[in-house]
Amino acid sequence: MIQNVAVIGLGKLGGSMAGCLASRGFNVIGVDVSQKTVDAVNAGRAPAEETGLDQLIGTNKERIRATLSHEDAILNTDLSFVIVPTPSDARGAFSLQYVAYAFEGIGKALAKRDKYHTVVLTSTVLPGSTRYGLLPILEEFSGKRCGRDFGLCYSPEFIALGTVIRDYLNPDFFLVGEFDEHSGATLESVNSRVALNNAPSKRMSIENAELAKIALNSFVTLKISYANMLADICERIPGGDVDVVSDAIGMDKRIGRRYLTGGFGYGGPCFPRDNLALAFLGQQLAASTSLLQVNDEYNRTISPHFVDKLEPYLHDRSTVAVLGLAYKPQSHVIEESPGIYLCRTLAGRGLRVLGYDPLATQEARVALQYHALVVDSLATCLQDAECVLVATADAHFKSLKPQDFIGNKESVTVVDFWRCLPEYVRNHPAIRYVPIGRCIDNDAATERLQRLWGVDKD
Ligand SMILES: NC(=O)c1ccc[n+]([C@@H]2O[C@H](COP(=O)([O-])OP(=O)(O)OC[C@H]3O[C@@H](n4cnc5c(N)ncnc54)[C@H](O)[C@@H]3O)[C@@H](O)[C@H]2O)c1
Repeated sequence: MIQNVAVIGLGKLGGSMAGCLASRGFNVIGVDVSQKTVDAVNAGRAPAEETGLDQLIGTNKERIRATLSHEDAILNTDLSFVIVPTPSDARGAFSLQYVAYAFEGIGKALAKRDKYHTVVLTSTVLPGSTRYGLLPILEEFSGKRCGRDFGLCYSPEFIALGTVIRDYLNPDFFLVGEFDEHSGATLESVNSRVALNNAPSKRMSIENAELAKIALNSFVTLKISYANMLADICERIPGGDVDVVSDAIGMDKRIGRRYLTGGFGYGGPCFPRDNLALAFLGQQLAASTSLLQVNDEYNRTISPHFVDKLEPYLHDRSTVAVLGLAYKPQSHVIEESPGIYLCRTLAGRGLRVLGYDPLATQEARVALQYHALVVDSLATCLQDAECVLVATADAHFKSLKPQDFIGNKESVTVVDFWRCLPEYVRNHPAIRYVPIGRCIDNDAATERLQRLWGVDKD
């Protein structure tokens, strides 16, 4: 039974995996190229920002140590997870540069190891990368043969930032791409002791697993865009309400309710890039993937589309407040954040834009330095705003009182992207409440449908 495992790359995902594996009784050796990261883990602290990670590493520090040496880790463990960055390149593909460097170190260490070791690549890569781009590096630097002297799997995780620990310990399933039966069985035996929830394994070829990983994320982006499209339609039919429609179609087992809320675009470090990477792969292989490009374009034009819709509520030089700059609530990550794009679009239309986020202030300030003023307090953000856009359903925004929005003004327009504000805000006479995804002008909507369907009596 495997007891000693390595985690190579101690970032947001790898650091969390190291903590989780130790919490489940494994002895973990973490490897990173950053001395600061290694020092943090050896001092019992989180190497990256992630909810609960500091405590997890601290509590399990007797079973975790970190090193700069790939050799130290490979010689002293039987299985290693490789979870280093695979940033998008100019073509939309994932760069293998960091994994290649890690595999070189692992290969050199395997050359000195006389026992079998299984290498598990967890970083997101495109189909073919593991077998044709990376496996040759392991064989070249080790002088050994995959399947005979060492094992190889591709096994990505499905986690969301902010809930990495919970997601890692309670997966819906384990996706295992295996070079051979033995590699897959070895990984499965470790996985079965990691999960708290008896999650099943889906074992398959490495290429199918590589495809399944990005296909899953890409499919979720399609679902999000679909819900956003429904929201747009609902605003135009009398009594239209995207929540009612999504609740109904979500009852169907083929569809399901998750990611169908309708509100704002998708963002973050994974969804947009995984969708585009799958489109890139399709193009390279002459498969028809234009659907994915259309989806990306739809998502990218969502901010200008919203600003067009807001035109009746704005005038030249209006002051607009955007609440929620991270790509989701309770996050400091602003990568591909719709809130950031919204601020830039508003500023581009000549409006004065103030932004606020409970966690992402520093990051947003850098990203918006020529576009919006990112302020430290909600009160400052709301003070002069004639129009307030609530871009994430953050608990801080949901608990705002009518007076917080109104201040000394006579009235204020509040646009609620996620329909998350309480009734006393929605119904306040000094607040013009604009819920995205619901019809707010039934007369105009009725007239539109009458024009469309009315029988011409002449
Ligand atoms: N963050 C997410 O939400 C998420 C979700 C699913 C998949 N992924 C994938 O996981 C991978 C890692 O993502 P992350 O967010 O943890 O990245 P990260 O940037 O937070 O961490 C990567 C770590 O790897 C280290 N590193 C780089 N080269 C190394 C090497 N040769 N040896 C050892 N350490 C090395 C870096 O110093 C860093 O600490 C990526 O492929 C990403 O696509 C990330």
